[in-house]
Amino acid sequence: MIAFRFEPTKQPKTLPPTQDLGFGKHFTDHMLLVECSSQITQAVSDVDAEACAWHSPRVIPYGPLPLDPAASVLHYGQALFEGLKAYRGDDGQVRLFRPEMNWKRLQAGADRLCMKAPPLKVFIDSLLRFCQIEDRWIPKAPGTALYLRPTLIGTGAFLGVRPSKEYLYYLIGSPVGAYYGEGAESVKIKVEQHYIRAAPGGIGAAKTGGNYAASLKAALVAKQQGYAQVLWLDGAHKEVVEEVGTMNVFFKLGDKVFTPPLNDSILPGVTRDSVIQLLGAQNIEVVQRALKLDEIREGLKSGQLSEIFGTGTAASISPVSTLGIDGQQLQVGQGQVGPLSRQLLKQLTDLQYGRSEDTWGWTLPVPQGPTSPL
Ligand SMILES: Cc1ncc(COP(=O)(O)O)c(C=O)c1O
Repeated sequence: MIAFRFEPTKQPKTLPPTQDLGFGKHFTDHMLLVECSSQITQAVSDVDAEACAWHSPRVIPYGPLPLDPAASVLHYGQALFEGLKAYRGDDGQVRLFRPEMNWKRLQAGADRLCMKAPPLKVFIDSLLRFCQIEDRWIPKAPGTALYLRPTLIGTGAFLGVRPSKEYLYYLIGSPVGAYYGEGAESVKIKVEQHYIRAAPGGIGAAKTGGNYAASLKAALVAKQQGYAQVLWLDGAHKEVVEEVGTMNVFFKLGDKVFTPPLNDSILPGVTRDSVIQLLGAQNIEVVQRALKLDEIREGLKSGQLSEIFGTGTAASISPVSTLGIDGQQLQVGQGQVGPLSRQLLKQLTDLQYGRSEDTWGWTLPVPQGPTSPL
């Protein structure tokens, strides 16, 4: 493993009570940083003549970042992030779920935004070392986890519009509560027919802040109207479905499952890919095809469309009870959590928490290592 210099905090925080965890409210004691700049001598990656090399891997007390006011992230939005969880099983073992997929997505996003992403080894080692150090922050209660937020920003100070020549990769962690209490709950979703999240040829497939900024207004208006989130349509014609809130979306229509094919305006979700493989292994046909809003209306009216669910790291599976279309409320199936959603939620979480045997090779156990001396 890469040697991360460790500077333990002198002011350890009190752990929040389980019932107060929520999502993204609390942060652990430390943060992990690796920098990419040119003209350095002790690199952890090969020095690329064209660009920067990764160096100075370290874990230091959580706190503000020193950032030049002219940094490219602040002006031209060179920013990417990832989101994954460290799950503690009943056996005490901490596992990550397909972290190399998060790296691939970071890499693809970096390519789209002309940024430099850390190599796979730096990324994976950062997650493992951080989890070792912050072990006391990985909660034990059922359904809880340590949410990990790897982040990549352009730090070069220059006001010309061009890619930054310097980058900071950092990792922070937030203990999060169980998404569901007694089991999955289904939510009301508004079909968004005005705002769009992403456009063809744009940056929707990258996990970059701008896409989330673009989504806030629609989500806010939908909440004011009593919906949990919005169903995003394509940015060109607002005709076919792309995503739901900050999740990929699936439809059970007849005995097949449909999900939009990946394109440059859909984020390639780790959970999406896992669900496609889990369904395939059960001989349930998954059709990757764009679904028209008209097909959804008809499917709901005829009863053929029996389940809709979102997939993502936060909730795993998030079933939809009602769709708001053109001001009308259409119930999905029985308006409750459907059997397929329930089954997929169990399959995924059983793997993540080590309750079922991982025949997929998807989980990465965090090896025992030096923890924080706190
Ligand atoms: C816009 C968007 N789509 C889809 C997803 C689901 O991705 P994943 O399954 O990797 O969490 C996310 C969450 O990260 C997201 O923000």
